[in-house]
Amino acid sequence: MKKVLGTFVMVISLMACGGNKEKESAKGDDDKGSTSANSLSDNPDYQKGLALVGKSDCLTCHKVDEKNIGPAYREVAAKYENNDENVKMLAGKIIKGGSGVWGAIPMTPHPTLSQEDAEALAKYVLLLKK
Ligand code: HEC
Repeated sequence: MKKVLGTFVMVISLMACGGNKEKESAKGDDDKGSTSANSLSDNPDYQKGLALVGKSDCLTCHKVDEKNIGPAYREVAAKYENNDENVKMLAGKIIKGGSGVWGAIPMTPHPTLSQEDAEALAKYVLLLKK
C-alpha cells in the first residue's frame, strides 16, 4: 500500500512539474519567435536575397522548407555555417552551377548574376537556418 501511495505522489508531482515547464517554455518560444522573425525581416542581407530570389529562376527548383528539384533552402542552411567562406563558396556554385553534394541532379549555372548578387543570395539561404 505504501508503495502504491508513493507512486501516486510521484505521478502527481511529475504532472505538476510538467505543467509548469510547459507554460514556461511556451512563453519562451513566443518571445523568441517574435524577435527572430523581426530581426530576419529587418536584416538587409535577407531582404536583398529575397528580392533576388524572386527575380531569378531559383524558385523553380528550390523551396524554403521542402525538397524540390534542388534541396530545401533550410536544409542547405542547416548544412553550412553562415560565414564568409561558405557565402563565397555557395555564391560560386550559384554562378557556375554545382553538382554531387545533394544528389545526382546538378544545379544549372547562373552566369548573368554578379558576384555581389550571388553572395547576397547565398547569405539569404544561410539566414533561413531555424
Ligand atoms: C534547374 C534547377 C535549379 C535552379 C534554377 C537553381 N538551383 Fe540551386 N540547386 C539545384 C540542385 C539540383 C542543387 C543540388 C546540387 C548538388 O547536389 O550539388 C542545388 C543546390 C543549391 C545550393 C547548395 C549548393 C551546395 O553545394 O550545397 C544553393 C545555395 C542553391 N542551389 C541556390 C540556388 C539559387 C540562389 C538559385 C537561383 C539563382 C538556384 N539555386 C537555382 C537546382 C537548381
